[in-house]
Amino acid sequence: METVTTSAVVRERVRGWHREGRRVAFVPTMGNLHPGHVSLIEAARRHGERFVASIFVNPMQFGPNEDFAHYPRTPREDQRMLSTAGCDLMFMPEVAEIYPYGSERATRVDVPGLSRILDGEFRPGHFEGVSTVVAKLFHIVEPDVAVFGEKDFQQLAVIRRMVAELCMPVEIVAAPTARDADGLAMSSRNQYLTPAERALAPKIYATLQAAANRVRAGDAEFASIERSGLQALENAGFRLDYFCVRQAADLGAPAPEARELVVLTAARLGRARLIDNVQVSRS
Ligand code: PAF
Repeated sequence: METVTTSAVVRERVRGWHREGRRVAFVPTMGNLHPGHVSLIEAARRHGERFVASIFVNPMQFGPNEDFAHYPRTPREDQRMLSTAGCDLMFMPEVAEIYPYGSERATRVDVPGLSRILDGEFRPGHFEGVSTVVAKLFHIVEPDVAVFGEKDFQQLAVIRRMVAELCMPVEIVAAPTARDADGLAMSSRNQYLTPAERALAPKIYATLQAAANRVRAGDAEFASIERSGLQALENAGFRLDYFCVRQAADLGAPAPEARELVVLTAARLGRARLIDNVQVSRS
């Protein structure tokens, strides 16, 4: 696996593969890789012939009081994991390579319809940072296909909408959430949990599943389902940003005829803010 820090070299490599007729799959990450990221690379392997991963902790998607400075950075381990997973090229740019004029005044890509709700309400500017950096990475890498985890369900929706509206020639593939044996969704932020908090954290997935089961069974009292989920988690010691049932396609409030729904939550536990979701089809 080759490690590259400049956009020009990434582009040269990918254009070379395209000239050979190879389909190029891309997995953008912020590094500090865990088995959840490896599952994204495995998904990429089913959709492409050459594999690029980026490692870039994107300052634009962190709020002023968030963990940008302390976000875990483990480039050596990341390099080893990507290489073992069969990645061909790792793109690890400096901030100045991505934001040559600074991230504060950079040109931005915004998806207002989906970026202000749910997580966007609690993390103002977050999704604008995500859509901007992903648009830039797509222009640099020029992949045929890009893989994103369903764990960040709203991020996936924002990126799909951006790609559709800006006519970007990239196929977006969603990869299922990788979970620890007790159900906790894998996340770099899990390492902020103390042992006692880690023992409590699987309650998030269990509570989402309980809500999804009610929806699946035909219960359409969404306000009551949301209240029960919120209370169950708050009673267990979490501080909740939201616990919501939404339409999977556009994260809007469920219309009576909507079949594909998703239950989403953001729950704070100690220093960590954990997000997770469960998709549910109702007949
Ligand atoms: O999901 C992430 O790790 C990030 O939001 C992404 C997509 C790499 C953009 O920085």
